[in-house]
Amino acid sequence: MKTALISDIHGNFEALEAVLADIREQQVSRIFCLGDIVGYGPNPRECLDEVIRSCEITILGNHDAATLFDPDGFNPVALQAVYWTRDQLDQTVGDASQTNKRWDFLGELPKKHSEDNLLFVHGSAREPTNEYVFPEDVYKRSKLDAIFSRVTQYCFQGHTHIPGVFTHDFDFITPDECDYEYQLDSNKALINVGSVGQPRDEDPRSCYTIFDSVTNQLQFRRLSYAYDETARKIYRIEQLHNSLGDRLKAGR
Ligand SMILES: [Fe+2]
Repeated sequence: MKTALISDIHGNFEALEAVLADIREQQVSRIFCLGDIVGYGPNPRECLDEVIRSCEITILGNHDAATLFDPDGFNPVALQAVYWTRDQLDQTVGDASQTNKRWDFLGELPKKHSEDNLLFVHGSAREPTNEYVFPEDVYKRSKLDAIFSRVTQYCFQGHTHIPGVFTHDFDFITPDECDYEYQLDSNKALINVGSVGQPRDEDPRSCYTIFDSVTNQLQFRRLSYAYDETARKIYRIEQLHNSLGDRLKAGR
């Protein structure tokens, strides 16, 4: 069975639509979202509605949590985006019940999901919402050991916006290095599924991952989308810093 794993949409509706259109052509049984539906981007309502419609399981991201509760450790640009996002979600456009539905959905998101030997989180197995696992953490063995000890087999995560596979022997394999296909084996692995709406691996294309639970094969997929359009929307919104548009074009 194939599961499409999307994460870190960040209110980027153009990217989300491109990814969902691609998913529809991949014989995928279900879609899981690993969090950060909102934050940074210009279309939080539209992205939430689409995730509610399309995703079987959705995990709470730190930006989703920040929209609900008082954010901790956010820089001024991110914080201003949180307040603007809250305001957008409070505004009723069209159906009033949809406003409540979005808040209820956010408020009920789980921090993690597990099934069989698979774990799904936003950040890490150790701290599901906030902990970053960066590629350079392969040099921090005690950190990775502690995280691996909480994983039965495979853990799927997002949060850094940098796709790739952390192997049991402390390597990080980027999609480029494995030609976008990676065969998981019986060893443990942490899989960062990449970011739909704000990639940070210097490739501006939207990223998501397909996992085949029969073959344990991973496929990283990259999609071009109209990032100029998303950036234009960001530039028009005073509370969203222009750097949030610039970074989409650079993929950082
Ligand atoms: Fe994120």
